Amino acid sequence: MFDSFVPESNVLIQGASRGIGLEFVRQCLAAPRVARVVATCRVPAAAAELQELAKAARGRLHLVALDVTDEASIAAAAAATHAYVGSLHLLVNCAGVLHDAGLGLAPEKRLADVDSAALVRSFSVNAVGPLLVARHFERFFAHRDRAVFASISAKVGSIGDNRLGGWYAYRASKAAQNMFTRTLAVEWGRSHRNVTCAALHPGTTDTDLSRPFQAGVPAGKLFSVQRTVTQLLGVIDRLRPEDSGQFFGWDGERIPW
Ligand SMILES: NC(=O)c1ccc[n+]([C@@H]2O[C@H](COP(=O)([O-])OP(=O)(O)OC[C@H]3O[C@@H](n4cnc5c(N)ncnc54)[C@H](OP(=O)(O)O)[C@@H]3O)[C@@H](O)[C@H]2O)c1
Repeated sequence: MFDSFVPESNVLIQGASRGIGLEFVRQCLAAPRVARVVATCRVPAAAAELQELAKAARGRLHLVALDVTDEASIAAAAAATHAYVGSLHLLVNCAGVLHDAGLGLAPEKRLADVDSAALVRSFSVNAVGPLLVARHFERFFAHRDRAVFASISAKVGSIGDNRLGGWYAYRASKAAQNMFTRTLAVEWGRSHRNVTCAALHPGTTDTDLSRPFQAGVPAGKLFSVQRTVTQLLGVIDRLRPEDSGQFFGWDGERIPW
């Protein structure tokens, strides 16, 4: 794992307090080619598992506060990261929201469930967040080594693959996230040719996000976070420059837009 990256690579995992992001931090820390890991989340002091990892990592893991819905917090996180590492070789955007009872966010079953505040919140976290992270962390990719900027998307964000309907906010925010990834890939294809940008579908994974919807998942199709992250790091490792701006599943197959 990580063989395609230079030795002493630096990694940033955005949305690392729980679920897939937290496991990315664990597996990156275990990768021999990774020197330092930056883990961002809304409230590092409340992320007990990250705190434990940081204690055990003896200076190789740095925790930084970052709320993707607050641009000032993203800018401050970039400054705090710069005090720890000057360059990044892998950045993975993991933060995402599908449901949040506290915010009145529930996946819509029908048109009558559509709510303007919930739509805006979903777009803010799932789509706008990763783009603003790119804007404020661009300077960390001003080097010549191979680098990857990945955003964890979702297959339900594929417009071509949408046969079931429902989940208006989540589907559309993930489609927007994919378009932002593609547009960024075009720009960085000119200015940052060392960086491959990709949207990645993790597969249905056993986390808080999927928990209310796991009953309908066929046996063997619900991945542990360990399996998901090992698979995604494999896909990331195999990405070639010509793959930039594409949408890949956990198995490395292209997903239609
Ligand atoms: N699990 C699946 O089956 C599945 C399938 C397809 C795609 N995905 C995608 O995979 C990614 C990771 O999901 P997961 O399953 O690991 O979900 P999860 O366990 O619910 O974790 C979601 C993460 O997003 C963070 N987050 C939410 N709002 C944020 C904000 N405003 N700023 C910064 N961080 C914020 C949460 O932080 P807090 O702890 O602070 O709330 C948490 O770390 C998401 O993009 C999701 O859409 C998941």
